[in-house]
Amino acid sequence: MKIEITNHPKTIEERYGFSWMEHVLAIPSPLVNVTTYKSNGLPNASMQSWCTFVGEDGYHVIFGSVNKNSHMYQSIKEKKCCVVNIPSKDVFLKCIDTIKNNGFDNDEIALSGLTSIKANRVDAPMIEECMVNLECEFAWEHDLIENGCRAVLCLKVVNIWMEEKLFDEKEGRYGENGYLYNIHSPRNPLTGEISDTYVGSINKMATYDEL
Ligand SMILES: Cc1cc2nc3c(=O)[nH]c(=O)nc-3n(C[C@H](O)[C@H](O)[C@H](O)COP(=O)(O)O)c2cc1C
Repeated sequence: MKIEITNHPKTIEERYGFSWMEHVLAIPSPLVNVTTYKSNGLPNASMQSWCTFVGEDGYHVIFGSVNKNSHMYQSIKEKKCCVVNIPSKDVFLKCIDTIKNNGFDNDEIALSGLTSIKANRVDAPMIEECMVNLECEFAWEHDLIENGCRAVLCLKVVNIWMEEKLFDEKEGRYGENGYLYNIHSPRNPLTGEISDTYVGSINKMATYDEL
C-alpha cells in the first residue's frame, strides 16, 4: 500500500536539522571529498555528499547544498577552482577525519593521514590516495533558497585522474571497491524508528533488456 506523506510526521522531531523528507526518502548520494587551498595557502578538505554529475558542453559537478560558512565555499570563491576526490572504502575514514581537522590553520589533508599533491590544471591540492581526482573550475553558484545559508555550486571538470583498475568492468567502478554512497539515517515515518547512517556501494542488477 502506498502512503501519502504531506506533513512532517509526528514520529519525527521538529527542528531536526535536516528536512524530515531527507530521512524518510534516504536517497543515496555519492561520497566525495573536495580539496582547495585556503587563503593562507594551506590545503583544505571537505566531505560532500549532496552532489551529482552532469554533462552538457563538457562535464560538470553540481554540489546541491554547500554551507556558505565553510572553508570549501570561501576558498572556491577565492580561487575559482577545486579538486573533487573520490575515495574507495579503504581510504574513506581518513577522508572523514578531515572534518575533525577542520581548523583554518590546519593542513587538513596531512593531519588526516593523507597525501596532498598539486593538481596539474588548477590551483588546488589533490588527495593522492583517492581512486579518482577531478580537477574543476568554478562555473556558477545560486542560493539553494533565497538568502539561505546554503549554495548550489557548479564546477566544470577540466582534468581527470583515475586508477587504471577501475576501467575493468568486473572489478571496477561498482561493487564494494568502487564508488561509495551516503545512506543518511533512513527513518520509518510511521514508527519514527531511525537507522544508522551507512556507506553503500552499487551492484549492477541487469541490463535494460534483461529486466
Ligand atoms: C558524509 C558527509 C557528507 C557531507 N556532505 C556535505 C554537503 O553536501 N554539504 C556541506 O556543506 N557539508 C557536508 N558535510 C559536512 C562537511 O564535510 C563539514 O562541515 C566539513 O567540516 C566542512 O569543511 P570545510 O569547512 O573545510 O569546508 C558532510 C559531512 C559528511 C560526514
